[in-house]
Amino acid sequence: MKLHYFFLFLVLVILNLSTTFGLSSVNSLVPSEALLSADHYHGTCPNAEAIISQTVAAWVKKDPTLAPSIIRLHFHDCAIRGCDASILLNNQGGERNAVNSKTLRGFQMIDDIKSQLEKSCPRMVSCADILTAAARDATILAGGPFWEVTFGRKDGKISLASDANSVPHGHENITTLLQFFQTRGLDILDLVALSGSHTIGRSTCYSFIDRLYNFNGTRKPDPSLSYSFLNLLRKRCQGLMNLVYLDVITPRTFDSTYYTNLVKKLGLLSTDQSLFSDSRTAPFVQAFATQPFLFTSQFAVSMVKLGNVQVLTRPNEGEIRVNCNYVNTI
Ligand code: HEM
Ligand SMILES: *[C@@H]1O[C@H](CO)[C@@H](O)[C@H](O)[C@H]1NC(C)=O
Ligand SMILES: *[C@@H]1O[C@H](CO)[C@@H](O)[C@H](O)[C@H]1NC(C)=O
Repeated sequence: MKLHYFFLFLVLVILNLSTTFGLSSVNSLVPSEALLSADHYHGTCPNAEAIISQTVAAWVKKDPTLAPSIIRLHFHDCAIRGCDASILLNNQGGERNAVNSKTLRGFQMIDDIKSQLEKSCPRMVSCADILTAAARDATILAGGPFWEVTFGRKDGKISLASDANSVPHGHENITTLLQFFQTRGLDILDLVALSGSHTIGRSTCYSFIDRLYNFNGTRKPDPSLSYSFLNLLRKRCQGLMNLVYLDVITPRTFDSTYYTNLVKKLGLLSTDQSLFSDSRTAPFVQAFATQPFLFTSQFAVSMVKLGNVQVLTRPNEGEIRVNCNYVNTI
């Protein structure tokens, strides 16, 4: 009789081991982003998505310029080490304190969301997921499309300023941009569609001043810049840190005017205008300029892809940060 129980025990142990093994081997076969899901927090923090969207709405109502800033923050997060909230870590020598991150904004809004979530469901919702959902909510508030956000990203523990300085800053050629996107699983269509977020938001003059006076060492302005726009920008750019709208025609509306601008030589950044002058990207610019719905629907698709870049979703990866500014101490 005792021996029977022992064998039963043995069978159970083996069964248990094999399912654990089986599951983890399945997990290691599927891509990391396949482990994200829309109902990830349904059991542990059912109000997470609502708390995020309500808080984003409150902040953007007070300061509409935060909508574009939060979308950009999400891009800068996903561009380096994937969407792991590494951009939020506030350590010396980290991404957030890199030269390239100087004009990033929206950190306080993320901290506010996080502190509310820590009250409702402590240690449950990652900063990477908060940033991803907030970028979607900010897009809608600016008049852009909706897409479903999936959850389950974990927060990374590494953040290096040297990495952040490799994020494109507006002077790259299309080949370099394509390579940067491709190494992150994003293609040429994603490059053109995601650049469309420059339909809202602002840039410092610092990021395009070379186009106004001494383009590419020629001591002449960029010939692909409209003459009247050039004169306007020279007036607005008396100081390098002055801010100028990225979309000069409809600066606060999420629409396809960004692309019609490029056709009229009204692109603000050199990289924006290059999308129209390069034969690989120009057809997509033309398509989005003439078919606004094509842009908004592709933007949603490409934002989902951006939010899936190199996500940390496996049990042994990352952590749920308690404070988005710091790696957990215990
Ligand atoms: C394709 C390569 C890209 C380049 C070269 C680029 C470059 C820039 C630059 C130089 C600025 C202005 C920074 C400053 O001077 O303050 C800017 C702003 C912005 N970028 Fe990009 N960007 C790129 C892609 C993206 C992507 C993929 C997104 C989002 C999905 C994005 C969203 C934004 C937004 C919303 C702003 C305005 C931020 C604000 O108003 O605070 N960008 N970008
Ligand atoms: C693009 O830029 C890279 C890096 O600056 C450079 O090596 C390459 O020659 C450029 N390509 C073209 C087509 O201009
Ligand atoms: C910039 O100058 C280099 C060398 O003079 C040239 O090869 C390149 O095509 C120029 N780039 C642009 C965008 O005009």
